[in-house]
Amino acid sequence: MKILGSAITPERAWHNRREFLAALAAAAAGSALPGGARAAPVMPVQLIERLRYSRNERYSTTEPATAYADVTSYNNFYEFGTDKSDPAERADRLRPRPWSVVVDGECAAPGRLALEDLLRPHALEERVYRLRCVEAWSMVVPWIGFPLGDLLRRFQPTSRAQYVEFTTLHDPEQMPGQRVPVLDWPYVEGLRIDEAMHPLTLVAVGLYGRVLPNQNGAPLRLVVPWKYGFKSCKSIVRIRFSERQPVTSWKRSAPREYGFYANVNPAVDHPRWSQKRERRIGAGSLSGRQATLPFNGYGDEVAALYRGMDLARFF
Ligand code: MTE
Repeated sequence: MKILGSAITPERAWHNRREFLAALAAAAAGSALPGGARAAPVMPVQLIERLRYSRNERYSTTEPATAYADVTSYNNFYEFGTDKSDPAERADRLRPRPWSVVVDGECAAPGRLALEDLLRPHALEERVYRLRCVEAWSMVVPWIGFPLGDLLRRFQPTSRAQYVEFTTLHDPEQMPGQRVPVLDWPYVEGLRIDEAMHPLTLVAVGLYGRVLPNQNGAPLRLVVPWKYGFKSCKSIVRIRFSERQPVTSWKRSAPREYGFYANVNPAVDHPRWSQKRERRIGAGSLSGRQATLPFNGYGDEVAALYRGMDLARFF
């Protein structure tokens, strides 16, 4: 199913709506409304409508999804604090609209795109993916998004583009956790170009059929289902193609504990705890522990990317 604003809206109305959006953006950025009310946040045109998407069965697990309440209240988003409950309590300070993303580095067509221009060409899909955190818990989430590779190709990466680096917004006003040096802000993550182009790698803009809640990384975040959750960078403002492997935040902060690859691997323990099992959030304390699968269960799709590599060394 197509979700393009331009496909579901007559051309004229589309332009009117763009003007309307621009006016809303100006209102949100500038003047307060009478009576102290705040202007409504500006939504990209695709997201004004209820999210429209098709379901991707091929890439969806049939395991039961984790409850919406758990997916949106048990979060890691250190920009809002290090407790699991901090993001849901504090992320209302984040203003995910208006938003823009810079794409640069080793590509022929770099640029800064407003969120709506970034999203417009992409049809949204629902994909139910497992998310396995390095802390040995897991969830099953019905994400809404589109393949990252489709986005990256628009910027025409050159043959020197061996890696892709992702950077989260850096603004301690909106993200109070950035006042505390738990990480070297802004949050930076990276993928090898073939990992980034893999059809499983998703740009998520929603979950459970709705626009992405701030605590889950609004307005757009990565979901890389065969890697530990920390690779799935939230609230992205910059995507950079590079020849060299990016220096990622977790690797910089604790290189013995967090590698660049971070593929889910029950055979390679974290130095301080086992990765053999995981606790499924919301499944109850007795039934909730289960074996962790290599590549988080996505080995048939992605193991070939690492053929010949020693995954204990490149962890
Ligand atoms: N992205 C940013 N910018 N900051 C973070 O602290 N935490 C990571 C990842 N992306 C994080 C981030 C970790 S450790 C995990 S497990 C997932 O986000 C959690 O995603 P969720 O809160 O949507 O479940």
